[in-house]
Amino acid sequence: MNIVKTLAVAAGLATALSSAAFAQSLEGKVIGFSQIGSESGWRAAETAVTRQEAEARGVDLRFADAQQKQENQIKAIRGFIAQGVDGILVAPVVATGWEDVLTEAQEAEIPVVLLDRGVDAPEDLYLTSVASDQVEEGRVAGEWLVDNVGDDECRVVELQGTVGSTPAINRKAGFEEAIAGHDNITIVRSQTGDFTRAKGKEVMEGFLKAENGGADICALYAHNDDMAVGAIQAIKDAGLQPGEDIKVVSIDAVPDIFSAIAAGEANATVELTPNMAGPAFDALAAYMADGTEPEKFIITESKLYTAEDDPQGEYDRRKDLGY
Ligand code: AHR
Repeated sequence: MNIVKTLAVAAGLATALSSAAFAQSLEGKVIGFSQIGSESGWRAAETAVTRQEAEARGVDLRFADAQQKQENQIKAIRGFIAQGVDGILVAPVVATGWEDVLTEAQEAEIPVVLLDRGVDAPEDLYLTSVASDQVEEGRVAGEWLVDNVGDDECRVVELQGTVGSTPAINRKAGFEEAIAGHDNITIVRSQTGDFTRAKGKEVMEGFLKAENGGADICALYAHNDDMAVGAIQAIKDAGLQPGEDIKVVSIDAVPDIFSAIAAGEANATVELTPNMAGPAFDALAAYMADGTEPEKFIITESKLYTAEDDPQGEYDRRKDLGY
């Protein structure tokens, strides 16, 4: 090929690439985001990352904080539909009760992407769901405990997430699956702490009182780190050493749990990335460009961290990321 032809091919390729890039862009698109609230450090980070991802892509993000109430989410989604937004992100507080509003969005031809939690609704009502494998998260936490108690008897107390939310349902199921067949490990108390630090502390205080001041508890399994951090305070207030007298395993990998692990007050956490918006915006961009249907479930990684994984370094790396 001569030089002129080579340049022409290169220029053609560049034009094709830049128009493809343009076609895949969300520049100027209006996206509504119905966020659950700010119940946890992880949630705050997800909100911060979503805002950053939107800004980097030139998206006009319309943000609605539902204060942990499904009725507020449904109202916000109806508002987005009325505004004629180009797409909707929703982190659904609970699993049930979404069919009507999702059908309304579908009838208005507005693609909806679920973030970090699932819904009990027909899959064709949303474009994709970006979330972790929450059963796997529970399984990873349970396997850590199985590996760390050996044959000793271990009475576990469990702090569940928000009642009716998919992470509460699935993290419980995964943990139970992991300890099944290990008759020395039993969940003796299980109650919701609603994914908040304050509730985690309050419920743990009750567990400690009911279990011989904590002497009969071998481990705490919390469905998120914030509840674990609250419970750690309750364990300390009861005169026990969290991480030693009572093992602590939880989920999210927020900076405060790494501080606790570094101080020997917690033992393990399973990471949940706060970057759900990146894959969600990619899916929306491709769909809006040429109708590309993404995978129905985009699954993020669930990695275990313990004291062997440089907890102080992990704290330092995460502390300014919006948690
Ligand atoms: O849906 C994800 C869960 O919601 C996080 O684990 C928890 O911290 C949050 O509130």
